[in-house]
Amino acid sequence: MIAIDGPAASGKSTTARLVAERLGYLHVDTGAMYRAMALKVLEEGIDFSDTSSIETLVDSTEVTLKSINGELRTFLDGVDVTEKIRSREVAKAASSVSTIRRVREAMVKEQRRMGKDGGIVLEGRDIGSVVFPDADLKIFLTAGLEKRVRRRQVELQKQGLQVDLEPLRKEIADRDRKDATRDASPLVKLPDAIEFDTSNLTIEEQVRIVVEKAKEIIRRQNQRL
Ligand code: DC
Repeated sequence: MIAIDGPAASGKSTTARLVAERLGYLHVDTGAMYRAMALKVLEEGIDFSDTSSIETLVDSTEVTLKSINGELRTFLDGVDVTEKIRSREVAKAASSVSTIRRVREAMVKEQRRMGKDGGIVLEGRDIGSVVFPDADLKIFLTAGLEKRVRRRQVELQKQGLQVDLEPLRKEIADRDRKDATRDASPLVKLPDAIEFDTSNLTIEEQVRIVVEKAKEIIRRQNQRL
């Protein structure tokens, strides 16, 4: 069980996806689940301050992740929303809905169901602290704000969107603040997590670090058997 936590655009998704691929594990992007829930709130036209309506909505909403042809897809009430949830509007909305405890409880329940048998790499903000505090390997990924802003810009360019650095910088900094200061399961660096800064690492390097740590743990566990 591998938990990867860290702030927005720190390289979690790419790392988690490739680590899972190399180990033959399932990849679970928990941020995608909060994004799907946020998309539903936006589509229903509910105000983000209307907590009780959102709480009611959670009970009638189904958010699931499925691996299809080796690719992780996100479903909202049975509809594939994988691409739709990548917008800036949804990212901002996800940071809001994820402050609501009932939303978190529902998402965490599904994440625990998916992860119960192990062989999984989960990434998010509260994986090592709340979802699986007993994870075998906890990683905390960071990167400097400038680096993360540029990465997000490149990601948006790939979607055909040209966005200036300044508004992106503000959005990411606002989201960082919100995710780290909320009452419910804020992003924290745990004492038992291995922290590393991906600012000056290539994707290959960051993936190799995690895979090597994982293999070391697997070896130790096998020796004990
Ligand atoms: O990782 P991401 O940028 O796709 O996540 C979108 C938002 O969802 C993020 O701003 C905070 C929230 N989130 C969370 O609260 N807990 C998680 N485990 C994952 C994401």
